[in-house]
Amino acid sequence: MRMRELIKRVVISESERACVTIAGWVRTRRDSKTFSFLEINDGSCLANLQVVADADIPGYGDVERMHTGASVEITGRLVASLGQGQKWEMHATQIRLIGEAPADYPLQKKGHSLEFLRTISHLRPRTNLHGAVFRMRSRMAYAVHQFFQDRDFTYVHTPILTASDCEGAGEMFRVTTLPPEKAAKDAEDFFGKKSFLTVSGQLEGETFACALSNIYTFGPTFRAENSNTTRHAAEFWMIEPEVAFCDLQGDMDLAEALVKHLVRHALEKSEGDLLVFEKFVDKTLRERLEFVAERPFERITYTAAVELLLKSGQSFQYPVAYGLNLQSEHERWLTEQYFKKPTTVYNYPKEIKPFYMRLNDDGKTVTAMDVLVPGIGEIVGGSQREERLDILLENMKRHHLSPEDYWWYVDLRKYGSVPHAGFGMGFERMLMFATGMNNIRDVIPFARTPGSCDF
Ligand code: 4AD
Ligand code: MG
Repeated sequence: MRMRELIKRVVISESERACVTIAGWVRTRRDSKTFSFLEINDGSCLANLQVVADADIPGYGDVERMHTGASVEITGRLVASLGQGQKWEMHATQIRLIGEAPADYPLQKKGHSLEFLRTISHLRPRTNLHGAVFRMRSRMAYAVHQFFQDRDFTYVHTPILTASDCEGAGEMFRVTTLPPEKAAKDAEDFFGKKSFLTVSGQLEGETFACALSNIYTFGPTFRAENSNTTRHAAEFWMIEPEVAFCDLQGDMDLAEALVKHLVRHALEKSEGDLLVFEKFVDKTLRERLEFVAERPFERITYTAAVELLLKSGQSFQYPVAYGLNLQSEHERWLTEQYFKKPTTVYNYPKEIKPFYMRLNDDGKTVTAMDVLVPGIGEIVGGSQREERLDILLENMKRHHLSPEDYWWYVDLRKYGSVPHAGFGMGFERMLMFATGMNNIRDVIPFARTPGSCDF
């Protein structure tokens, strides 16, 4: 039986309790003359199961080799626990060592630094903290699908290999089968042209929205941006809904509803894991999540946000001026210091945004929007898309993109074009927000960042 089941089951019958088998890893062991106490964890939940093993049961002869980290299988009788916070403990009738863990097992002691744990990413899921993070990650992924499936969105699998650059930021990983000396001969490459790992499923997502109306993608994306920050990874997961017959307002509504849904899910379905984050990461986490789940987000135009920043009297590292990108420090000032709640900034200057965003009537701004949250900054980036053929072609020209390369994307504007909008939510950024973890490397199983592609 898995330990999660032990906690979840309301009733476990007397006869079932008489003979239960569990398997897991030894967290600690204490021996006395006639028996041993073992704390076993199988990772299915936070709680350990305490086992009392008398010296005369089968298998006890190996108990001295059941060190921290060893794997064991134990059969016994479940009895109500007198200990705090635990419903059951086990009186073993049989105990079996499956795999030993010698004295160099790196997780002997508690309280290792996150930096150290990153160097043993293959073992860190066995810690309380990372176990909680990755169980939370799994539940949040489920909640993403739940949110969209409940709203009748169709899940679309967009390709990971692509020839088009969605964001136009030149941050793509090239994929090639050419030997280095032929690197320039694109026509001889596997696909007969240059190809890359995708930075976003959006463009392909749009084609499906322009057929199935409401769609979403949820998968890995890749960016070769050389920014070694706590919020950037070279491989990260993105959730990208795309909605036909939808404008910027509807897009912001959907993005904010998704953030709230995920925050609520983190709170209500945390299965005890939130306690770990509150204890070891951020004491105010629950309070913050409840605040975000309940209160409306702030909305402000880029132009008004820039004015606020200019009047703030703060000295920022990066300059603030109309036409410049908002940097993380600016985003965080807006959401943490000024509004003190999640803030959606919209209508950015066209010069700093990609070609696909819809031009506003002012001719200067595009219908872009970013959702910013305290502690992180940008968690969602999206826009209404340019559905007018002539304006899209102008945009492409300005961005030095050739319509021939994007002929299929252009076709959508030729045949039954519709207003449509969508966004991308960084799944790891959302997880950082929901767990309070400060570094993206600690919420993704195996982080890929500049200079680091281990495991
Ligand atoms: O703002 P971005 O670049 O938007 C797009 O990719 C659009 N094509 C999305 C769309 O409209 N369908 O990225 C979206 C989100 C960001 O808000 C951020 O949360 C996350 O993806 N993100 C990253 N997360 C981790 N590491 C990185 N290097 C990230 N780059 C973006
Ligand atoms: Mg963005």
